[in-house]
Amino acid sequence: MTNSTAVVSPLAALAPDLRAALTRARYDADTLLAVLGDDAHTALGRSEPVPVRRAVRDAGELGTLVRLLLLGDPEPESAVAAALAPLDLDRAVAAGLLERDGDRIRAALDLRPLDLGGGTRWVISDLDDSLQRRTLTAEHVLGVGQASLSLLRATPTAPVDSVLDLGTGCGVQAVHAAGYARAVTGTDVSARALWLAQATAALNELDIELLEGSWFEPVAGRRFDRVVANPPFVVGPARVEHTYRDSGLALDGASELVVSQAPALLKPGGLATMLASWVHVDGQDWQARVSSWLPDHGVDAWIVQRDIADPALYVGTWLRDAGLDPRDPAAQERAEAWLAAFDAAEVEGIGFGFVYLRAIDGPTELLAEDLTHAFDDPLGAEASAYFDRSAWLRTVASDPGLAWSAPFAVEAATALERVYLPGEQGWTQQVARLHRGDGPRWQHEVDDITAALLAGMRQDGLPLNELVELLAVGHTDAEATPEFRAAALTVVTDLIRHGLIRPA
Ligand SMILES: C[S@@+](CC[C@H](N)C(=O)[O-])C[C@H]1O[C@@H](n2cnc3c(N)ncnc32)[C@H](O)[C@@H]1O
Repeated sequence: MTNSTAVVSPLAALAPDLRAALTRARYDADTLLAVLGDDAHTALGRSEPVPVRRAVRDAGELGTLVRLLLLGDPEPESAVAAALAPLDLDRAVAAGLLERDGDRIRAALDLRPLDLGGGTRWVISDLDDSLQRRTLTAEHVLGVGQASLSLLRATPTAPVDSVLDLGTGCGVQAVHAAGYARAVTGTDVSARALWLAQATAALNELDIELLEGSWFEPVAGRRFDRVVANPPFVVGPARVEHTYRDSGLALDGASELVVSQAPALLKPGGLATMLASWVHVDGQDWQARVSSWLPDHGVDAWIVQRDIADPALYVGTWLRDAGLDPRDPAAQERAEAWLAAFDAAEVEGIGFGFVYLRAIDGPTELLAEDLTHAFDDPLGAEASAYFDRSAWLRTVASDPGLAWSAPFAVEAATALERVYLPGEQGWTQQVARLHRGDGPRWQHEVDDITAALLAGMRQDGLPLNELVELLAVGHTDAEATPEFRAAALTVVTDLIRHGLIRPA
């Protein structure tokens, strides 16, 4: 294990001059969006260089930087020197940021602005194949991809003391963490990744501890308030074709390792936020598989499945991700071995999603559920709220009197919808559904008694005990039976857990 922050690489040493140039040329997220306009900006996301090139034709130094750094175009040396002044081009070439191409200069690395919510940050990574055709090398260091962005949006950002970013890559999660944590540590097995993460940190004037080593080995014995991880979770045979996605462990072994070992890295009350994958195997439910990865004690786990891919779609997607054409013979060979490994393990599908683990003092609890519908709100704030609600429910489980004596209120974003279905006599059958209009937009089908229970909930209203008694008399002409009360408490618990109602 080496502490890569001990030695500043020539690339990281470019940071002061490079930062001055990028700031002066206004190579920041807001200006880029304004100069490109929505259409060209979206074209960039679709890997279409021409609309972008046209949009920045008259954009001066910023146009040069967009063509050089975002599109990968070779640009005249004098224009690059002017756009990147005071950066010395020979130093930048020697450090590996730029390369000469005849009398032109091209980018040797990807450098782009990103607004993570607190203003522009710059991220340095390897060039991908989004705007120039290229096959990614085995040591390719990922830039800010869709998975990175989804983890950023899913990460709670309340201020904390310490964060560990496992598998930091270009350092994007660590840079984000520096916005809400006093101390940030990033680890990676790849020296190249740490070289780029160090440059990313320096360019943003951030002090991030970077440690080289496999999995949690570089931080053995340490504990953190938060762990974030976008690990090399790609499911497949036990091999490493690309460090950014393959762990060398078979199937979902990388996710199992990270999910099972992360709890030991958390301080009491600490929280891990991770992306993970799990296989769907014939005859086994995915929740049971993921549940078996958790220790018996000390974790409150919320696991959210966002998508399930069939094996063929999955393999094709990841081949393309590495810049391979599934029609090429070499790619077909990889696909053959990959699908054969899935067949041998009876894999029917590959699930993907978020894993949240909170360190608690008690037996492990798990809610693993599907969240496959669309929603816009970032999941990070929801995760924090989820664990607050879960803690309250734990207190209630040990002392149900607390729930019975509390009044409850329906959350402002909750709506009740009645859907009429065609029946023998026209539009008769009804389905009543509670909708959450924010966060993960949960929906719960409810019966009339539950709808009536919620109608009676008020901020300054009756405690649950009295509400349920009134409801029993209204619906059954008798006092509430133990079964009626138990059913009411179960419904209330489920609706609290999903943030549709709250203790008032
Ligand atoms: C999917 S990338 C994530 C990069 C970055 N954190 C992000 O969110 O975009 C996974 C990272 O894990 C690293 N990695 C692969 N195997 C590892 C291991 N055994 N231990 C630690 N990191 C590893 C890779 O080098 C890569 O940087």
